[in-house]
Amino acid sequence: MTVRQVQSGDLPRLLVGAGPRDRFHHVERAGMQERGEATYLVAWDGDLPCGRGTMFHRSKYERVRDLLGDFPELNGLEAVPRGRGIGTRLVAAAEARATTLGAARIGLAVEHGNVDARRLYERLGYVEWEHGDVVDRWFERDGSGTAVREHADPCSYLVKNLTGR
Ligand SMILES: CC(C)(COP(=O)(O)OP(=O)(O)OC[C@H]1O[C@@H](n2cnc3c(N)ncnc32)[C@H](O)[C@@H]1OP(=O)(O)O)[C@@H](O)C(=O)NCCC(=O)NCCS
Repeated sequence: MTVRQVQSGDLPRLLVGAGPRDRFHHVERAGMQERGEATYLVAWDGDLPCGRGTMFHRSKYERVRDLLGDFPELNGLEAVPRGRGIGTRLVAAAEARATTLGAARIGLAVEHGNVDARRLYERLGYVEWEHGDVVDRWFERDGSGTAVREHADPCSYLVKNLTGR
């Protein structure tokens, strides 16, 4: 298994066999990378994608930016199959990329009910910040990519110091 930033030739391979939700995600995140707003990391098992995570180059949450300034933030982490170390590798790749960009810390939001993901992050050294919840606003989309419903999920916000690594 390898993890790397998405490259221009990767998008067609990512779109083969992907459902509408995944198609939209890949195109959106690859576009963000192209505009320099994010690093889109994909895990590959041979020619098949088996995981992904986006590292936004600054937080999507205004509260985080206001309180702590700009630093990278991990978003949309997903692995299939789970429990084989793919998520861990993606997080490590995001941290390495953040360090390369000169960041002193990296953050992420995790829904309160997502205990498995939270346990993984805590094991990897992430700790909750001191400023309470952030609200993750995102759009559910239909097969054509049109936003059909807005979600607003309260999340814990975790940070990891990248200095001294
Ligand atoms: C969160 C998520 C990305 C983690 O990815 P993952 O590939 O399952 O993560 P890992 O395999 O690295 O670690 C998960 C567990 O498997 C264990 N593990 C890692 N490698 C392993 C291996 N080779 N064999 C057995 N177990 C292993 C880890 O120790 C960890 O244990 P834990 O559950 O007790 O913490 C994945 O569960 C997922 O896609 N969840 C749905 C989407 C989601 O919730 N995303 C997070 C949003 S904040």
